[in-house]
Amino acid sequence: MWGAAVAWIVVSFVRPPRSGHSFAERVLRVGSVDELAVGQARLVHHGREPIFVVRVDEDRLVALAAVCTHLHCILRFDRDSGAFACPCHDGAFDLSGNVLKGPPPRALNRYRVEIRLGEIYVHV
Ligand code: FES
Repeated sequence: MWGAAVAWIVVSFVRPPRSGHSFAERVLRVGSVDELAVGQARLVHHGREPIFVVRVDEDRLVALAAVCTHLHCILRFDRDSGAFACPCHDGAFDLSGNVLKGPPPRALNRYRVEIRLGEIYVHV
């Protein structure tokens, strides 16, 4: 009886989920690339970690966590400097997510972003 119970537990951990992950579960649709001007950022709500999508130039987008790595304040995007500023303790991050100044201990999480048929998608 114990053997069967242990085997069931082991199999339930090893077996892949029944439904697997669909495209919609792993990818966030952000919107039309035409609606995001060069130099502009869009805050996308996603679970506990909102994401900034920034259009760096005509062809390049970046997607970064909008949550400061210090004490988890939500960042602001400063279009003029092209950097993310933390309102809590004056931390700052560049467009690659690297720490520019302040107490944040590490870079921001980065996400893969792509354009398909004019729509922006972020892989989460
Ligand atoms: S929470 Fe961002 S610098 Fe402290």
